[in-house]
Amino acid sequence: MTNDLMVRVAQRIEEADGICSFELVPQDDNQLPAFSAGSHIDVHVAPGLIRQYSLSNDPAERHRYRIAVLREIASRGGSAGMHERVRPGDLLRVSSPRNHFALAEAPRSLLLAGGIGVTPILAMARSLHAQGRPFEMHYCGRSASRMAFLDEIAQAGFASSVVIHADDVPEQKFDAQAVLANRSEGTRLYVCGPTGFMDHVLETARRLGWPDEQLHREYFAGVGAAPLATDSSFEVRIASTGLSCQVPAGKTVIEVLAAHGVEVPTSCEAGVCGTCLTRVLQGTPDHRDTFLTDAERAANDQFTPCCSRALSPLLVLDL
Ligand code: FES
Repeated sequence: MTNDLMVRVAQRIEEADGICSFELVPQDDNQLPAFSAGSHIDVHVAPGLIRQYSLSNDPAERHRYRIAVLREIASRGGSAGMHERVRPGDLLRVSSPRNHFALAEAPRSLLLAGGIGVTPILAMARSLHAQGRPFEMHYCGRSASRMAFLDEIAQAGFASSVVIHADDVPEQKFDAQAVLANRSEGTRLYVCGPTGFMDHVLETARRLGWPDEQLHREYFAGVGAAPLATDSSFEVRIASTGLSCQVPAGKTVIEVLAAHGVEVPTSCEAGVCGTCLTRVLQGTPDHRDTFLTDAERAANDQFTPCCSRALSPLLVLDL
């Protein structure tokens, strides 16, 4: 990628059980490319292994990026690689920041973080606070020992706008219904965290009448469905060449196309980043990504071949 840059790992801190933060700084005296709250960078963890991590530091900072990585139990290599191999002094290739989860203009913002989902939400809180824009943040986790940045939040100038919900403290239990029921006109909701948490929050919000355009969410890598042995097979056809190939159970469209010499750019390979997004000219995709919005999915004119499949026997791709 042309906008990649090399950064040095200046610090690595064990922030909570299973969570490490990494402070990434320029190799020279130059500033890093600017970013806005909600941005992420691609990190080249190892050759061919790229993962997306949200930036959690103050978006006004140009001297560092800070990411935090939860070691996934079922790691496909990304989080384990970061935890096991990346040390202070190492050089890492990263992309310039990109933002699919940007703050919108709104009279008020409601920020909801679940677990490691605190990373972009924390940058949002810093940004809103710096701009004097009203917000409320709720940070949920299974226990305080598994929640990163609690001390930092307690000492921040916006600490009074943050409510901590640790599941093992009964009086702190998160009640999505109560938090979401109290909505003033035009409030925007931003939610980031594990899939179950986000689905619960978004379903509750919709049930309470929040308009879709006021709901913003960011999923994490690793939630895209891997191909299953029980999936059915289907045919994909390349519109430009007429090449047809069968995608069997247990293989992704990307894998099958690559075996036929058709390379589609990928990054997360989990339906999160949108890098592989491909137009669909005919057929109905079986969307398994978390990148497209519900409306985009319903249009059925594009899909993410790294993890999505087909509901129809044939998909014709605009490649
Ligand atoms: S490679 Fe990230 S969505 Fe497909």
